[in-house]
Amino acid sequence: MERFITSTLNRRDPAKEVSLRPPKFADFPGQEKVKEQLELFVRAAQARDEALDHILLCGPPGLGKTTLAYIIANERGTNLKSSSGPAIEKPGDLAGLLTALEPGDVLFIDEIHRLNTTVEEYLYSAMEDFFIDIMLEQGAGARSVRLSVPHFTLIGATTRQGMISAPLRSRFGLNIRLDYYDTASLARILKRSAGILNIDIDDEGAAEIAGRCRGTPRIANNLLRRARDYAQVRADSIVTGRVASEALAMLQIDSDGLDEMDLRLLEVIVSNFHGGPVGIKNIAVSVGEEESSIEDVYEPFLIQRGFLVRTPKGRVATPKAWEKLGLKPLQDHTELF
Ligand SMILES: Nc1ncnc2c1ncn2[C@@H]1O[C@H](COP(=O)(O)OP(=O)(O)O)[C@@H](O)[C@H]1O
Ligand SMILES: [Mg+2]
Repeated sequence: MERFITSTLNRRDPAKEVSLRPPKFADFPGQEKVKEQLELFVRAAQARDEALDHILLCGPPGLGKTTLAYIIANERGTNLKSSSGPAIEKPGDLAGLLTALEPGDVLFIDEIHRLNTTVEEYLYSAMEDFFIDIMLEQGAGARSVRLSVPHFTLIGATTRQGMISAPLRSRFGLNIRLDYYDTASLARILKRSAGILNIDIDDEGAAEIAGRCRGTPRIANNLLRRARDYAQVRADSIVTGRVASEALAMLQIDSDGLDEMDLRLLEVIVSNFHGGPVGIKNIAVSVGEEESSIEDVYEPFLIQRGFLVRTPKGRVATPKAWEKLGLKPLQDHTELF
């Protein structure tokens, strides 16, 4: 059976997501500061009839990075070609992508922190001066040809801002950081998605899911579908506050939105490692989850909500985490905070 832990609920499912993707800034609730900045940027480029400068979008999975890339291209009236860091293996792959672009087009590179260093270096001249030098032969007789590239806009997305090298980061004109959503914006997103999916949900139902979806639209939308299933089988098909609350309890999501894996993570740190500090490898082995999913999905939320802190020596559970588990924090640990 599939476990309904966050890493499942936050897994990308393109078939389901395309229909829920807002096409315009006006249909995209939340991230007001980011939207204001991007909208201004797009309008200014439009007025000057120039290609947009390159944009880097950072933030945990499911917050709308891909969606925003499509909105930016749509509002600027250009095409978007999509690829991802691991898919661009050789400089030739990059050359193929770039030379197929029309002037002004957006090239979207998802997981840009996973580009290999060779390809990344080729990208520098393309971003800055709109050419790439491709080597034709190796060794003493090496020759290269210079290919010119149309004035394009690179939009990079990453869950790991810290893994973007300084030279790459400095070549983006705009560096945007997405944060977890507030509950009011999530409730609006849920109402909008419910309309598209033909799901009956009332204000209390939307508020209940909004408060327990880790501030993440993708998880909100997936919980909405689960709550609808529950409502159809156990209630009269309307997602009310009570129905949503029961559905979430069945998925073992607690009132703060923490799931089984979050609690296990905290418990391992507290019980097996006396509250920390403990390294990520030890945590991953102890809970049987991948390191990358702990670092991308679980940790940022636990840190943001004050259950965990990252120190140079490793992760430390805060007094709030001990209390969450019904335990009293160790005295010498409370002094750390
Ligand atoms: N502000 C928003 N308003 C409405 N839907 C959103 C918003 N942000 C994200 N979504 C939806 O959540 C899902 C995940 O968004 P996506 O852009 O794929 O996230 P990311 O690329 O950051 O992982 C998509 O279905 C998307 O339409
Ligand atoms: Mg994405």
